[in-house]
Amino acid sequence: MTSVRDALDSALIALRAADVETPRLDAEVLLADALGVTRADLLTRDLEVSGRAVRRFQNAVHRRAVAREPVAYITGRRGFRRLELDVDRRVLVPRPETELLVELAVAELPQGARVADVGTGSGAVALALADERPDLHVVATEVSEEALAVARANGERLGLSVEWVLAEGLPDGRLDAVVANLPYVAEGTALQPEISRHEPPGALFAGPDGLDAIRAVAAAAEAIPWVAFEHGADQAAAVRALLVRRARIETHRDLAGHERATLGAD
Ligand SMILES: C[S@@+](CC[C@H](N)C(=O)[O-])C[C@H]1O[C@@H](n2cnc3c(N)ncnc32)[C@H](O)[C@@H]1O
Repeated sequence: MTSVRDALDSALIALRAADVETPRLDAEVLLADALGVTRADLLTRDLEVSGRAVRRFQNAVHRRAVAREPVAYITGRRGFRRLELDVDRRVLVPRPETELLVELAVAELPQGARVADVGTGSGAVALALADERPDLHVVATEVSEEALAVARANGERLGLSVEWVLAEGLPDGRLDAVVANLPYVAEGTALQPEISRHEPPGALFAGPDGLDAIRAVAAAAEAIPWVAFEHGADQAAAVRALLVRRARIETHRDLAGHERATLGAD
């Protein structure tokens, strides 16, 4: 048995030595997971850490500090909007900045619209839309069969209705809108070890300027009245140029102040 404070203190030494960006947060999330409690419980309840939980926690801290695995792959879970998604190495870890795409679509899409989430990964965007706007008909495409299996399982577990399609780019049939967080990193870009060692390369890289996937979907979606793409902070002008024929083009910033999503509407 050990105390929560002692367990956290020894983890902090390892995580700081490994230059992990958010050592305290990561240690708390991993210890809460090892104990099967919430982070709030850790800080407010007088808990002891049993030998079995200590071993689970030490193993998790080792994976985080030495292998630099993302916390979400270690716990197998990630929060996105109102949902808790299961995630593993088959899918990109959903990012907080991607919630912006959902916000834009939730606010703007007309009642009953048929919307495609292109490159759905864990299903994050599609499932959040189905959750927050049950009037929408949500179709999600994904080029990776492995990723689509994760998305489908999330949908079943959460009881949310999304039409899952294994496809590159847009699904068949009439669409009113497209939302897409496609890969947008330029080939050859150096990334943090959490990303480069663990996340699927097919979810990250898209050609010499990182825009190959967005370019292809923007061209295929020219006749669709509303589209929104997530992109890199330095890609907003290039994405606006892809949407130049639209009546309304807007780039929105994420919570960190970076230009993160551009929409085009007719
Ligand atoms: C950056 S990840 C984003 C996943 C998810 N949308 C999210 O926000 O967490 C991009 C996903 O798109 C998939 N993908 C890449 N190119 C695609 C394409 N042309 N059509 C469909 N899916 C694609 C990848 O396999 C990957 O799962």
